[in-house]
Amino acid sequence: MAEKKPKYYLTTPIYYTNGLPHIGHAYSTIVCDTIRRYKRMLGYDVVMTTGTDEHGVNVERSARKAGVPESEFVAKMAAVWRETWDELGIQGDEFIRTTDVKHARTVQWLFRLCRENGYVYKGNYVGQYCIYDNAYVADAGPGDNCPDCGRPTETVTEENYFFKLSAFQNPLLDLYAKHPEFIQPEARRNEVLSFVEGGLRDLSITRTSIRWGIPLPGEESHVFYVWFDALTAYLSAVGGEHYERRGFWPADVHVVGKEIIRFHAVYWPAFLMAAGLPLPKQIWAHGWLLMESSKMSKSRGNVVKPRPIAHVLGMDALRYFLLREVVFGQDGNFSYDALVQRYNSDLANGLGNLASRVLTMIANYCGGVVPNPHEQGKLPERTHASDIATTWRHTLTDINSLYANYRFSGALERTWELIAEVDRFISLKKPWTLAQDATQREYLETILYDWAESIRLIVVLAHPVMPAATEKIWRQLGQNGPLGAQRIDALQWGQLKPGTRIGKPEAVFPRVEKSETIERMEAMEKEASQPAKAPASAAAGATAGATPAAQPTNNKIAIEDFMKVEMRVGQVHTAERVQGADKLLKVNVDIGGEVRQIVAGIAQHYKPEDLVGRKVIVVVNLQPRKLRGVESNGMIVAASVGPEGRPVLAGFLEEVEVGARLK
Ligand code: MSP
Repeated sequence: MAEKKPKYYLTTPIYYTNGLPHIGHAYSTIVCDTIRRYKRMLGYDVVMTTGTDEHGVNVERSARKAGVPESEFVAKMAAVWRETWDELGIQGDEFIRTTDVKHARTVQWLFRLCRENGYVYKGNYVGQYCIYDNAYVADAGPGDNCPDCGRPTETVTEENYFFKLSAFQNPLLDLYAKHPEFIQPEARRNEVLSFVEGGLRDLSITRTSIRWGIPLPGEESHVFYVWFDALTAYLSAVGGEHYERRGFWPADVHVVGKEIIRFHAVYWPAFLMAAGLPLPKQIWAHGWLLMESSKMSKSRGNVVKPRPIAHVLGMDALRYFLLREVVFGQDGNFSYDALVQRYNSDLANGLGNLASRVLTMIANYCGGVVPNPHEQGKLPERTHASDIATTWRHTLTDINSLYANYRFSGALERTWELIAEVDRFISLKKPWTLAQDATQREYLETILYDWAESIRLIVVLAHPVMPAATEKIWRQLGQNGPLGAQRIDALQWGQLKPGTRIGKPEAVFPRVEKSETIERMEAMEKEASQPAKAPASAAAGATAGATPAAQPTNNKIAIEDFMKVEMRVGQVHTAERVQGADKLLKVNVDIGGEVRQIVAGIAQHYKPEDLVGRKVIVVVNLQPRKLRGVESNGMIVAASVGPEGRPVLAGFLEEVEVGARLK
């Protein structure tokens, strides 16, 4: 029977969809992804949740400004967040959106439990509210600014449901005393302790002044306060009301930025206690990523986006930089200069250079096969192994314990010390001279083995931080199976098998020229900050991938122009995939007495069998054209949805006759 793995559940904060991801957000998420990968390599069954926080006044306003319904606005933004995480190698297991139906159900259920247990009452609220932080500002009067973000607060008067937070002062203090590890690091724990010791006021948890939110069943004029809504996402992602079935709740750790510790370490456990649900085991608050000494944030206008960096230097470079540079729990600085500097010194000249040097030597001196480490006693002098094996034994234990305590920067530093040590030994021993001397053969083979083995250990240890590059070096070392499946805690010196055929040595981190690289990233950053381009053409089919036709300058056409386009109701007779083109379907459509063959770019979203019999809208008077050698005689009309332009076929709610013209 397969071994039952222990479960581990961790979460990132869920991100506001009225903004786009910057590398401060990326930091939170990359940290969690690193923990997730590390825990997997320890044999845990891990679930990591990330997602988007989509309700509230800010979103309502941003959507209005963009002139689109809120649901459309948030769907586009959520897609960008998701894509960005994909590009950074982040393997979220659950992506929860607060607009998901299952989430709304969980929020309503949690409220019901709190109410049934007597912790909710109706009252009147008058106070100052910061719409940017989605928080009421205590002790503030009309016209005061928010003490956190410095922006003006707004006066709010409304009938709300209140949560009896005041009843939880002692239970929370007991929790912190009984579980000193609950809030990390120490500085944040002290901050929360003194806040709670100062007394807790009841908290209003519904709003009647906001429309865009989860409604309270039976009293739809109330929507839930964004933090009551958002925090519950951690629970809805792993089963909500039925959390026991999946067995991932309570969470092992919620990783958050330091400015949202209070919501997580005070409100969240209080809501859960009120509902009688298990509490998360730990809240870990990290520091901020600073840009020129102030917090990187949209409101300060000093943000750097992750995509240009990932595009120019690779996502592993960004991941490595953030985890190496920022000590977890403290603030850290970002600059392009420091990023490229570290890339060149630690990755190009460090790990990348070591791997290609050693692999090239094995290719040149040992026919591309990992040599045998010969017995120490028979060798002319001590090999590196006797020293390095000892060093490794300590290092492996140290690095595992650094990871276990989330000391990523320290773990990487220790690993890179080994890289430097092997580099030093190579320069000292000059293997290229040893290779000229037949009497040194066994010695040469032994030290080459030591170095190859060191690289194997280094890539396993660095894998949680740099998944892609380490996987490449792993293959170049001739290793099979996914690197992520290795047990990091079972790593030992000497497990590399002599006789393994290595792959082709290739540069994993090519050296870059600093100023040119910075210019490229800055140019991409600038371009990405331009106002969004107009949505893509709203048609799928024969025009897929084609450039949109030139528009008249005032963007309007005369009715005669419109009438030139002949659109008819069609019915799909047959549909099949086009060989060798994963986006294209060949569809035969009856357009009323004539069957047309049309090639449509919808194969990734529609199965051929689901189309047969379906009524569609066809542009019938387009010039025929060939796509992948298959003639297309018309175009099927579809909406282009989301930033990725997912096609959604247009259709009719009423019965329509095949062949009818659209006017
Ligand atoms: N939506 C809330 C969280 C709800 S969790 C139930 C929120 N969203 S946020 O988009 O503003 O921020 C999300 C996370 O990104 C927070 O943990 C925040 O600390 C982090 N960061 C935002 N800017 C940051 C830096 N400059 N540096 C490091 N982390 C930063 O708050």
